[in-house]
Amino acid sequence: MTHFVPRYPEPMKKHSWPLQMLLRPLKFIRSRNCAISTLSDRAYGMHLGELRLPGQNLLIANQPDLIKRILVDEADHFPKSQMMSNMLQLLLGDSIFVSNGEVWKRQRRMMDPAFEGVRVKVVFGLMMQASDALIERLDLIADGREAAIDIEMTHVTADIIFRTIFSKPLEANEALVIYEAFNRFQEAAFAHGMTKHIGLPDWLSTFNFRKARKAAAEIRAVLDPIISRRYEQWHRGDRTEHGDILQSLIEVTDPVTGTQFDLRELCEQVAMLFLAGHETSASALSWALYLLAMDGSVQERMHAETVAVLDDRPITFSDIRKLDITRNVFMETLRLFPPVAFLPRVAEKACPMRDKEVRAGSTVSISPWLMGRHRRYWQEPDAFDPDRFDRPETVEPQRHCYLPFSKGPRVCLGAAFAQQEAAIILAGLVRRYRFDPVPGFEPKPAARLTVRSTNGIRLRVTRRVNRAATVSSPE
Ligand code: HEM
Repeated sequence: MTHFVPRYPEPMKKHSWPLQMLLRPLKFIRSRNCAISTLSDRAYGMHLGELRLPGQNLLIANQPDLIKRILVDEADHFPKSQMMSNMLQLLLGDSIFVSNGEVWKRQRRMMDPAFEGVRVKVVFGLMMQASDALIERLDLIADGREAAIDIEMTHVTADIIFRTIFSKPLEANEALVIYEAFNRFQEAAFAHGMTKHIGLPDWLSTFNFRKARKAAAEIRAVLDPIISRRYEQWHRGDRTEHGDILQSLIEVTDPVTGTQFDLRELCEQVAMLFLAGHETSASALSWALYLLAMDGSVQERMHAETVAVLDDRPITFSDIRKLDITRNVFMETLRLFPPVAFLPRVAEKACPMRDKEVRAGSTVSISPWLMGRHRRYWQEPDAFDPDRFDRPETVEPQRHCYLPFSKGPRVCLGAAFAQQEAAIILAGLVRRYRFDPVPGFEPKPAARLTVRSTNGIRLRVTRRVNRAATVSSPE
């Protein structure tokens, strides 16, 4: 059976290497705009790659043993690279996504409780409300018209994280400000961070730095006033019960140091949660719908499953585990288009890795993008084949090479949250609509902070007959 193979930036071919080597410095500078466009064919089958630049070493660890060592067994010796901080600090300060050492440990202890399994179940109803609001928006255009799916997915995931943090919906104008500002931020901050990291002169990134700072200020202007108001109310003694993530972060006391988040920390953590919590999910959901539109037979089977499991009633918490095809589609999307394509770490000490001696201070990246498409571990690695997750041959690669949420102590804090929201949105949409490709349109994937299509994701949306509107009523 032939499967759909989505396009991505063509890897450099081995036979063309003399020319490619000459162009390499240029390509490397171009990598400031997209981290996957410079990968060679070899990278998709290698175990350890190395690039020596003046004054620094960049390695890509692309083998299960090395990944376990860096992310799990010796995670303390491979902290997050300054590269991430260079990119994100303007928006997220020293929040949990970029911090290291004791600072990170304290933040993780304080934030874990807000994302425990039971809390994820509690927000099920809020996710359903945001999903219903999405369906109301799509119903207005679902007569075969084209929709900007990436914008819709950003709106619904931002709405979900907004409701779960603040107990209020995200207004359409706020959603647009954030979508637009984050696009600018992502491009400028990525280029600024990479420029610094690869040692190019600072003046080359002045323009990007200013652009990123302006975009960050626009996003923070939406979030910070709400946080300050709630923080001050609580510290004045107003203990109104909100039951949301913000309340949990305002109230939490670190069991080890006995400290709480101050207002600056709180604003940074919330900005981080807001962004990590919607940008990644929006990326994954947009790619999932694109892949479904390109493979009509998977889409029809998934539709049939949603009808069999849910009929016309609202989705409930216990339905989620019965939606096998939906789960496989989401997992396969994360394998092919992991929103976070690279996990850069720093080797604190010199150490051997395979046949190389890694110098202290070298950047060692792990790539969910490369591991998910590794030629030696996956069959038909570039093909969209959600059923592979039901076949025994996938058990080993899934265990060792599948890391869209990372692994080890710094595993994604919101993985369960993201899987639940994806199931609600994907099943809700595919039950009600058919998604078709727009003739002549092909997305162009680029890996910046997340893997997004630089020309958006456009699809035709058609409402299926006889599927009544679902209004949420959580279990
Ligand atoms: C499909 C959706 C998502 C994907 C693929 C994803 C992926 C990841 C990955 C790969 C990391 C590790 C990054 C690194 O080590 O460099 C990470 C970290 C993190 N994610 Fe997610 N994420 C998703 C959704 C979410 C959501 C919904 C939230 C919150 C509501 C969230 C919160 C976080 C946080 C706080 C961290 C930092 C954890 C730490 O360093 O201790 N993520 N995520």
